[in-house]
Amino acid sequence: MQRNKSVLLGTATLLSLALLLVLQTPSVEADRLQPKGYRETVEKLQKYYVKFEDKVSREFRRWKEEGTMSQHFRQLIQASAIGKSERAQEIRELPTTREGPLCAICRGFGGSVLEFRREGASREEVYNTTVELCTMLNLQEESICRGLIELNIDTILYIVDNRPDLTSASLCAVVFQSGACVLDDSTFTDWQVDVDSNGTPVTASKAGTAQRGPNDLKIVQITDLHFDPNYRTGYNAECGAPACCRESQGIPEDTSAAAGHWGDYRNCDTPWNAIEDLIDRVAEEHSDADFVYHTGDIIDHGIWETSIGYNVRSINRVISKLRDTFPETPVYNILGNHEAHPTNVYELGEVTRPDFSTNWLYHLSADLWSHWLPRAAQQTIRLGGYYTALVRPGFRIIALNNNDCYTFNWWILFQPDALKGQLQWLHDVLLQAEQAGEKVHILAHLPISSDCFSVWQREYRRILERFRDTISAQFHGHTHKDEFNVFYASENPEFAVGVAWNGGSGTAHTNVNPNYVVYYVNPETYEVTDFESYAYNLTSANLTPDERPDWFRMYSFQEEYGLSDLSPAGVDELIQRLGTPAGRDELRRYWEYKVKLADASLVSDCTEDCLLNHLCEIVTNQADDLRKCQELSDTFFD
Ligand SMILES: *[C@@H]1O[C@H](CO)[C@@H](O)[C@H](O)[C@H]1NC(C)=O
Ligand SMILES: *[C@@H]1O[C@H](CO)[C@@H](O)[C@H](O)[C@H]1NC(C)=O
Repeated sequence: MQRNKSVLLGTATLLSLALLLVLQTPSVEADRLQPKGYRETVEKLQKYYVKFEDKVSREFRRWKEEGTMSQHFRQLIQASAIGKSERAQEIRELPTTREGPLCAICRGFGGSVLEFRREGASREEVYNTTVELCTMLNLQEESICRGLIELNIDTILYIVDNRPDLTSASLCAVVFQSGACVLDDSTFTDWQVDVDSNGTPVTASKAGTAQRGPNDLKIVQITDLHFDPNYRTGYNAECGAPACCRESQGIPEDTSAAAGHWGDYRNCDTPWNAIEDLIDRVAEEHSDADFVYHTGDIIDHGIWETSIGYNVRSINRVISKLRDTFPETPVYNILGNHEAHPTNVYELGEVTRPDFSTNWLYHLSADLWSHWLPRAAQQTIRLGGYYTALVRPGFRIIALNNNDCYTFNWWILFQPDALKGQLQWLHDVLLQAEQAGEKVHILAHLPISSDCFSVWQREYRRILERFRDTISAQFHGHTHKDEFNVFYASENPEFAVGVAWNGGSGTAHTNVNPNYVVYYVNPETYEVTDFESYAYNLTSANLTPDERPDWFRMYSFQEEYGLSDLSPAGVDELIQRLGTPAGRDELRRYWEYKVKLADASLVSDCTEDCLLNHLCEIVTNQADDLRKCQELSDTFFD
């Protein structure tokens, strides 16, 4: 922070002034909390972005005409370059103060490249230019920039060429989706799901009575295994890339940078021995499990060098292991954003070019998952990677492929309303389930809260609210955190209408311990009555590489928080408590479990602002609706 400040002052450009404006607000760890004066700052920023775009564009043109960068352009780039530590983070985990600068950088440099292409630049020219900017802006090291751009450039060029009305302002607002990068473009927001009108207004939080009992179903959730076939014990864990500990990255001279045998807290994914251990452990310790939910992200974080063949091999290996281990126990699989190639990029069914198609993944999934599914499920899996299955009379699973709504899925930029298809299907299946008197569990890789396009979030919430009585529970992954979300009614935000549980991760990437979760589910209402999270201490496991890790029951949610029940109303009582000074110790405990007691996270304290942000993350499920967070902020300090 301090370093950034002085660099910015040094350049004394318009950029620095505007960035300082933002930097004056206190720094917090996540972006759910908007500091005082935020709105005014954002308003000022909108005019500033335009000026900054002009400036960058002028200098960019000079560069292209004269063949060399001016000193001023270099300064602009230098002042915009991001910190190394920001690379690996999820955008939503960056401090609020970075929202404005990142939006400016995206609009300035992204806008210039957009113009460059529209004025006739070739693929090769755009490639060379973006590699150079990516490297100088420090977004990644050169080889990673090259790989990432090579994998994504054709999709992006296709969209830019075929959607001439796409502006850099809309592009950056969709991808970054922060309060500082405002989306003002009706082509993105003006679509909606047709929601059945027979719903009743929300007049109370959804209550429940189910308590954990001996006849409860047991469901194990395994998620985010991130198997890395290139992982090698002893190899470089501090390589600077999104995935380290890989064979190609060599053995470090400094032994403290050497990858551990069971995984590593740094930017490393999961070696096969740890994948096997986790799956075997679930089978050994929970042989009475009724079902397994496996909620995606089999592939590692080597996002700059995936290929279809590579992804197919990893997916095959993991699903085969699950099939061998659970031949009789139904395993319900869904796709993660990492299964696609390129990573995150799910074509939305509007483009017929075979090189853009995600069909290879849908067909592979239909074939591999079919062992545990009814035949009819295959049709929608082959269409879009999602399905529904009646598990037993009265109980249905809806398995979404909501990776399409991830803001890094470029296809949203091409035709945003193509997102409607799967949501409408979700609605229609729920309506049928309601009419049949069934209860439903919804499985989706991305938490609704997590970098999912805000218009999709808005529509999902409408569906959830309408079918709150049919939907008994939601299960997510992706964040690698042991956490949950509570949904509140849009019109009456005092009432809780749904809860989503997050299974955490099998990977230790980054700074978390590996875990899995066992849910207890009432056999009549299909509500979750309790869950237990199991984990191991990776520091300690790596001290004894020859012994299997020492898994332990980290906690039971019900024992830990003593709720009346785990219904939306019951969990809302907990939220209220955590939102007061009296709930501080409990909230700190929540954060410790959220990182699964990982030494690498516990070494840095979570301050009060940090704790408030974690609380806000629970209740914020739509990027542009921060009302619950604001409400909790008001009671938090007393
Ligand atoms: C792109 O860069 C390569 C390698 O530096 C170079 O050989 C090629 O001529 C460049 N192409 C264009 C169009 O600038
Ligand atoms: C994990 O294990 C290490 C090594 O035994 C120990 O020092 C550390 O305190 C343990 N961490 C926790 C959170 O128990």
